[in-house]
Amino acid sequence: MKLRSAVCLASAALTLGAVTFAGALPFRATDKIDPVADAKAFQKFFTDKFPKVKYEDFVNGPYSMNEDLHRQWQEKEQFPPYEFSLEMGKEMFSKPFKNGKSYEDCFPNKGIGIRQNYPYFDEKEGKVITLELALNRCREANGEPPFSYVRDEMAALTAYMAFTSRGKPMDIKIPNDPRALEAYQAGKEYFYTRRGQLNFSCATCHVQSPGERIRAEILAPALGIVNAMPIYRSEWSGMGTTSRRFTTCNSQIRGVPLSPQDDEYRNVEYYLSYVSNGLPISGPGARP
Ligand code: HEC
Repeated sequence: MKLRSAVCLASAALTLGAVTFAGALPFRATDKIDPVADAKAFQKFFTDKFPKVKYEDFVNGPYSMNEDLHRQWQEKEQFPPYEFSLEMGKEMFSKPFKNGKSYEDCFPNKGIGIRQNYPYFDEKEGKVITLELALNRCREANGEPPFSYVRDEMAALTAYMAFTSRGKPMDIKIPNDPRALEAYQAGKEYFYTRRGQLNFSCATCHVQSPGERIRAEILAPALGIVNAMPIYRSEWSGMGTTSRRFTTCNSQIRGVPLSPQDDEYRNVEYYLSYVSNGLPISGPGARP
């Protein structure tokens, strides 16, 4: 099964590649780093390419690209498959650690309604801090072992935090600090750099080919692509964190994934979140 699907993917990917290799990338790195102009051009690219998609709908990934799927999804939302994870996350979030503190003590506003501000650039450390990383740091600061970045506990916690921010516009800041601009730029470059045996970049699939099928899946547009995280996927029979999705995407192109929360993944999440500023948080999401 695994091998077969890998082979299918390779042939699907190659067909896709043949179509898209010819096109020039719309947002290649330029000399000047200008996130405001980038975000504008990025958003315009998608609204021009998909004039019929309602703007806020871009956060619904593959569902925004296909009417049949969209209908199935609305039916599914009546009994959302992430409900279990959400409940678990809610319970975990307020439950005290052994030292009596809890996650609430680690976050502004006790962690409620703040998901849209992550990732942020920490000027003390000079690095991007994602929500997943902040949650594990909170655990470790309170004497608890960190959770796996790709498993259910982390998905449950981030699902709950996303839920308390549903509808709030993504609001990523780039502070006036050259290191923040560098992190943003590094994330952008990572996103547009080809890698893996199939020589695909993230953009090959999510900028050049959203709406196209790869195996049975319909590719999500890069605009708003992190707003729905974490997601329940039927294919996974469970939840997936942002880390799980990024590493899976790297494996799909027969590349060697980085470790979850590697600086490069943090930067790419920073870039993708910034260029999706203004679009609502829709997580947790459900996918076919
Ligand atoms: C070979 C094509 C391919 C490449 C290259 C690729 N992805 Fe994906 N990605 C997929 C598929 C297939 C899915 C599942 C269907 C979908 O939602 O697009 C997906 C889903 C996602 C999602 C979840 C979207 C959602 O709404 O469900 C994110 C986030 C994501 N990819 C990020 C990335 C990043 C970051 C990179 C580069 C490191 C990348 N992808 C590279 C194929 C790809």
